[in-house]
Amino acid sequence: MKLSAIAAGAAGISIFAIAALAHGGATGVVKERMDGMSAMADVMKALAPMMQGTVAYDADAVRAGAAKIAEHSGEALTSKFPEGTDGMPSEAKPEIWQDWDAFSGLAQQLEIFAKGLERAADNGVGGMPAQGGMMGGESIMGGGAMGSGMLGGQGMMGGGAPMMSAEHIGQMPSGMAFAMVSQACTACHTKFRAEEK
Ligand code: HEC
Repeated sequence: MKLSAIAAGAAGISIFAIAALAHGGATGVVKERMDGMSAMADVMKALAPMMQGTVAYDADAVRAGAAKIAEHSGEALTSKFPEGTDGMPSEAKPEIWQDWDAFSGLAQQLEIFAKGLERAADNGVGGMPAQGGMMGGESIMGGGAMGSGMLGGQGMMGGGAPMMSAEHIGQMPSGMAFAMVSQACTACHTKFRAEEK
C-alpha cells in the first residue's frame, strides 16, 4: 500500500520531469520566441484584473505592459520563426510557413493593437462602472465581442481587410484596446499553435 503510493508518486514526478524537460529542451530561436511569448503572457495576466476592475487601474502599468507586448510583436515576433523550426519541443504548426502572410499579418496586428493600447492607457477601462450593475463580470467579454464585431473575421486573419491604426485604437477605452490585443493572441494561437496536450 505504502510502496504503491510511493511508486505512484515517483511516476508522477517523472512525468512532470519529462514535461519540464520537453519544454526546457527548447534552445536557440525556439527558446527565444517562447520567452518572448511568456513575457507577453505575464503582461496579459497582470493587466486582466485591472481591466475587469478587480484590481485598481494603473495607467502607467497599462502603458508599460502594452509597450512590452509591442516590443515582442511585429517583426520581433516573426523574426523568431525561421522556416523549419517546428517539431518538438515547439508547438509551432507548419502552417506558419505555408501561410506566412497571414501569420506575419497577425504579428503586425498585435503590434498595432499593443501600440493602440499604449496610447489608450490614459482613457481608462471604459464605460464599465456605469454598466457594471447589469453586465457585471461579463462586461469585459462585451468589449471583446465588440472588438471582434468591428474587426470582422477577415481582419484577424490578416487577409487584407483595412487595418485600424494605433492612433485610432488610442481613442478607445483601454478595456476595448486590451480586448483587441487579447484577440490577436488567440487568433494566432488558434491557427498557428498546436493545441496543448
Ligand atoms: C502571430 C502569431 C502569434 C501571436 C500574435 C501570438 N502568439 Fe503566442 N505563440 C505563437 C506560436 C506559433 C507559439 C508556439 C511557439 C513554439 O512553441 O515554438 C506561441 C506560444 C505562446 C506561449 C507558450 C510559450 C512557451 O513557453 O511555450 C504563450 C504563453 C503565448 N504564446 C502567449 C501569447 C500572448 C499572451 C500573445 C498576445 C499578447 C501571443 N502569444 C501572441 C504565435 C503567436
